[in-house]
Amino acid sequence: MQYTYNIDGLEDLELFANKIAMLLKRDKGVIFLDGELGAGKTTFTQLLGKALGIKQVITSPTFNIFKRYEFSDSALNHFDLYRIQDNVYDQGFEDYWEDTNEISMIEWSSYLPEEFQEMAILKINIKIIDENKRALVLDGQDWIIQALKEEM
Ligand SMILES: Nc1ncnc2c1ncn2[C@@H]1O[C@H](COP(=O)(O)OP(=O)(O)O)[C@@H](O)[C@H]1O
Ligand SMILES: [Mg+2]
Repeated sequence: MQYTYNIDGLEDLELFANKIAMLLKRDKGVIFLDGELGAGKTTFTQLLGKALGIKQVITSPTFNIFKRYEFSDSALNHFDLYRIQDNVYDQGFEDYWEDTNEISMIEWSSYLPEEFQEMAILKINIKIIDENKRALVLDGQDWIIQALKEEM
């Protein structure tokens, strides 16, 4: 199921992150984040972390590839595949992605091998409209898209 949501500025993105955080109380899992450099993949992850109650500063994992933030009885696993591209296999990240009690945000999911392409509960493709406006092209499991459609 697909749905496009228009974001007017950072406050709007924060409202959207709050909604996603609420929905993740029902089911956790993998979220894909795609879109060109500067689209807002890391910014969205930071706002989601804030909404989940994570107090640590979430920074871009571009140079580390992976960072983990624990909160209450779960964790936010933040990946940025930009620098590893085809080498995902060696990294042993699958264990995190299979864990449905944790959240894994994957920036540049387009670099994942084919077999991992369908594992996300939600795929967010961020299109830059102008400096502050974005279009979020959402695709994912029916329950999450349906809930977002009803709320917005
Ligand atoms: N509506 C918006 N949504 C997301 N980012 C925005 C928005 N408006 C402005 N920005 C800015 O765009 C930049 C996005 O950068 P970043 O999140 O690092 O992108 P990416 O991780 O996709 O490369 C940030 O400086 C952010 O403040
Ligand atoms: Mg980033």
